[in-house]
Amino acid sequence: MRRRTFFRTAAGAAAAEWGGLSPALAADAEIEIAPGNPGPVISPNVYGHFIEHLGGVIYDGIWVGPNSKIPNVEGIRRQFVDDMKRIAAPNLRWPGGCFADGYHWRDGIGGSDRRPRTYNYWQRGRPAGTQTPETNQFGIHEFMRLCRLIGAQPYVAANVGSGSPKEFHDWVVYCNAPAGTVSLADERAGNGDNEPFGVRFWGVGNESWGCGGAMRPGEYATQYRKFVTQFPAYAPPFLVATGPRGHSADGDIGWTTGFFEEMRGFMPPDGFSIHFYTDFRRDRVKSGDFGAPEWYEVLLRGARLEKVIQNHWSEMGKFDPAHRTKLVVDEWGVWYPAGSEIAPAYILSQTITLRDALHTAMTFDIFNRHADKIAMANVAQTINCIHSLFLARGDQYARTPVFHVFDMYRAHMGGQFVPIEGRIPEVNISSLAGPARLAALSGSASIRGRRVTVTLTNPSLDTAVSARLRLTGGAGALEARGAVLTHSDMRATNTFANPDEVKPAVLPVRMRGDTIEFAVPKQAIIALELQLS
Ligand code: AHR
Repeated sequence: MRRRTFFRTAAGAAAAEWGGLSPALAADAEIEIAPGNPGPVISPNVYGHFIEHLGGVIYDGIWVGPNSKIPNVEGIRRQFVDDMKRIAAPNLRWPGGCFADGYHWRDGIGGSDRRPRTYNYWQRGRPAGTQTPETNQFGIHEFMRLCRLIGAQPYVAANVGSGSPKEFHDWVVYCNAPAGTVSLADERAGNGDNEPFGVRFWGVGNESWGCGGAMRPGEYATQYRKFVTQFPAYAPPFLVATGPRGHSADGDIGWTTGFFEEMRGFMPPDGFSIHFYTDFRRDRVKSGDFGAPEWYEVLLRGARLEKVIQNHWSEMGKFDPAHRTKLVVDEWGVWYPAGSEIAPAYILSQTITLRDALHTAMTFDIFNRHADKIAMANVAQTINCIHSLFLARGDQYARTPVFHVFDMYRAHMGGQFVPIEGRIPEVNISSLAGPARLAALSGSASIRGRRVTVTLTNPSLDTAVSARLRLTGGAGALEARGAVLTHSDMRATNTFANPDEVKPAVLPVRMRGDTIEFAVPKQAIIALELQLS
């Protein structure tokens, strides 16, 4: 969002009424958008997902097995499928994460009773007594079934750390070759899938600087070239190279420089991944129990992603001025210290509150504003892990506040980005790091056909913001509808016992010619849908 120079402090901002605006009140924020002059398309894939063989993500979260009493479709939790369809989940990244670089795909094919039990990278992270090995009941066929049920594109992370180019190429052939052409395709057909899977998105390793092989960027670049040079291109591929640990203190620019330097003269990847966790693992910020400074700390630290994207993009431009390679933020989310797991074996599951919903909205607005740079992004992780949309344990199930943000933002998918201009006040806040100033509203807008979507977040714990939005360039609205996600308690969450505590409500809006007036409550996210005349 671009801002003009008029700022007001929290003390000076007029308190807007929640339920409706008095026309006599001057608006706190004056916003203009020009739908006739849109920018780049927001790839639907930036609203993507990530699931890993970790804790309770796959087993129980998604895979309950065909004989389970929990309603399922051929072993896959039905409620999960229904909810993922509802948010039009565009893609799913699997099988890891760190798990991917220890995974051998052949372990997960063939009759379920013949699949081996193998070591899982994450089993040692579970408490004693729950350190079960990988059962391999969920393999590539089950993953593809899940993708088909949801209508999502598969994004498969291949094993570079402990695998080989041959193992990778065989997996690609197994997935993508037409039956009747090569033996691996016939094997796939024999295992129940005659039609090729048509996997386009391939990750060549994961966090190769860490759990994926502890490599230096130059070493990884050499591996990357070996893995992709003979890639069996049945379906036009989109190859994603391992990128930086974006949440490092220095943003890890050295990885990007080192990788692209070593790639000089060779075909660059289609995608370059960034992992960006708003990382409190070694911090005192807890997931469910916090005060105002921790609320703002999460939002401020999450907002650093914008700079990280810009910095890596500009570094990549030094080697690739035409920007053939796009960014893939294939893991993002707020990561809290252990302590709020839904059960001991469900490691990395955590309480998700309204604060995380605001973080999600602000992250999506960053992605939308950088639609020219970002080809895909995947929340880490969709269910029972870190920044989840869902929590599930046995027959218990809840949609977290984050789910509702995905739902509210879906209209941006595939739309064209439209810049927001205007006069937005700033508020004084106090985070753990000390006093700071935050825009009283931040957000993004897009247009698709005759429908404009505007999403805005008010991070303040104290002050509502009244806003007047004007469509410029002769555009007018026939209809305007609004939704709001908020709660009187900043720590509000959805639990198994109370799954609908945080959910969207209708936001009152008033249309006056080419202007739309509304109030954004404190600690809230709003989504407006405008039907243009
Ligand atoms: O999402 C959990 C873990 O975080 C992933 O396995 C790894 O890639 C990252 O460090």
